Formats: sequence, C-alpha cells, structure tokens
Amino acid sequence: MRVAVVGAGVAGLSTALCVLEQCGPRAPALQLAVHAERLSPRTASDGAVGLWQPYALHGRGPQETLWNKETFEYLLGHVGSPEAEEMGLFLVSGYNLFKEPVPLFDQGADVVINCTGVRAGDLQPDPALQPGRGQVIKVRHGLIPGKKHSCKNRLPVTVLGGVNQLGNWSEENSAQDHRAIWESCCRLLPALQDAPIVEEWSGLRPVRPSVRLEREAVGPGRSEVPRQVIHNYGHGGFGITIHWGCAMAAARLCSNILQERLPLRAARL
Ligand SMILES: *[C@@H]1O[C@H](CO)[C@@H](O)[C@H](O)[C@H]1NC(C)=O
Ligand SMILES: *[C@@H]1O[C@H](CO)[C@@H](O)[C@H](O)[C@H]1NC(C)=O
Repeated sequence: MRVAVVGAGVAGLSTALCVLEQCGPRAPALQLAVHAERLSPRTASDGAVGLWQPYALHGRGPQETLWNKETFEYLLGHVGSPEAEEMGLFLVSGYNLFKEPVPLFDQGADVVINCTGVRAGDLQPDPALQPGRGQVIKVRHGLIPGKKHSCKNRLPVTVLGGVNQLGNWSEENSAQDHRAIWESCCRLLPALQDAPIVEEWSGLRPVRPSVRLEREAVGPGRSEVPRQVIHNYGHGGFGITIHWGCAMAAARLCSNILQERLPLRAARL
C-alpha cells in the first residue's frame, strides 16, 4: 500500500511516524512519502512558541481533550530522556496573566493523509478553516524565572508575543504589531529593553471550530478501489499540544484501511 502524507509540520511528521509504527509491522511493503510545500525550518510549527497548553477549550469536544492528554503523556514520557534535547523538550514554570478574572474551566497514493494546516482549503475550500495570523519576537535571554534552557546549537531564546488576527493571510511582519508586542512585554518585564532581538516571525494558525480528523473516499485511485483521504488539520494555535494524539488517531484510520485492503489483495491473487 502506498501512503502519501501531505504537510511536514508537527501534524504531518508525527502522523507519518505513527503510520510507520502502527502499520509498518503488518504491511512490510508499505511505502510512505511525505510531500510538502514548506519544510522545516519554514513551517508554522517551527516558528510557533511551542508550549503544551490546551486553550480555547470552550465549545471543543471531549475527543480533542483526549488527544491533548495523550500528547501530554507522550511528551512527559520523553522529558529528561536522551532525545529530549533534540526534541526541544523541557519543563518550565510559568504563569498565565489575564486582565479579567477567568472562570474556572470545567497523489498516486492509495491513502493521502491531509496535514496541510492552514493551506488545507487551497484546492477545495473548507469554509470552516481560516488563518489566525500570529507574530512573535524572539530575544536572546534566559528571562523566564526558573529553569534556564539551552538547546544544542541554539541560543536560549525567549519568545514574546503575540497577536491572533483571524482572517489575515499576511505573513509579513508588521511594525505596528512589533511595537504593540514590544511595549506590552517591556511593561511587564522592564529588563527586556536590553535584550537583543534574534528573530521576528509571522505565521498562520490553521483555525477551525474543531479539528478535522476523519476518512473520506475520493474518486477511484490507481485501481478500482477508491482513494482514501485521511484529514488531520485545523489544529489552531495548539498543534504542539494535540499532535501526538491526532497522529495516533490518524494512524489508526490508516490501519483500518490496511485491514480492509488485505483480504482484497489476497482475493485478487
Ligand atoms: C485537504 O482537505 C482540504 C479541505 O477539505 C481540501 O481542500 C484539500 O484538497 C485536501 N487535500 C488533499 C491532499 O486531499
Ligand atoms: C494583516 O497583517 C499585516 C501585516 O503583515 C498588517 O499590516 C495588517 O494591518 C493586518 N490586517 C489586519 C486586518 O489585522
């Protein structure tokens, strides 16, 4: 079976890995390819702050909460491991500051896996999907109280943010947003004034009222069997938070397809 994963951000790459792990042992002839318009370090996952933090939980279903939880357990299992440094994974203490009291929260392939993030709607628009433009400033400083971190070949950086402009497709940095971010962060932490800026970055969150993770049969594939698309997109600003749970769920869908095809293949022999 040939599987094409489209997209190489955190959703695409983790889905590819889970498909290999779940389906590989049962299908030694499995061919998997990742296709992407943008590769690391140019994906939205690369620029993102990368905190595990479920947010905007209102109105989101228990399924997404479970995927978040599975991702948390997966990441926590790697904290302090030999891979943690390369994964950029560490625990950091932190605070959420609010202005108001916050209520307590109670192609040619047989299978195409659609992890295209905000560009998922390019070919056949998904009206529920829209960009949530973000902009951040990265400064060289171990400013966050508590544990300082430094990754191999990387300077310790603190990410200052941010904005969330729904419907704005621009990936240009805006001077106005820069000023607003810089001023509010310096007000909060005056020591920032002297921190050297390492990078400024704008990216698009793939915002959707709910993650789309489902199977769809589309037209005939290489043989008479319809090609299957597995959608895994619409992770908003919490791709890092939910990626592993979604990747495992997408791989289970892929595994089901494999299961259905095996008897088909055998019957044709
Ligand atoms: C991914 O899903 C979107 C939204 O339905 C669709 O427009 C796009 O064509 C899909 N991509 C692939 C490769 O199937
Ligand atoms: C969209 O982003 C650009 C920066 O690239 C900015 O100049 C513009 O004001 C933004 N538009 C809205 C409506 O926020």
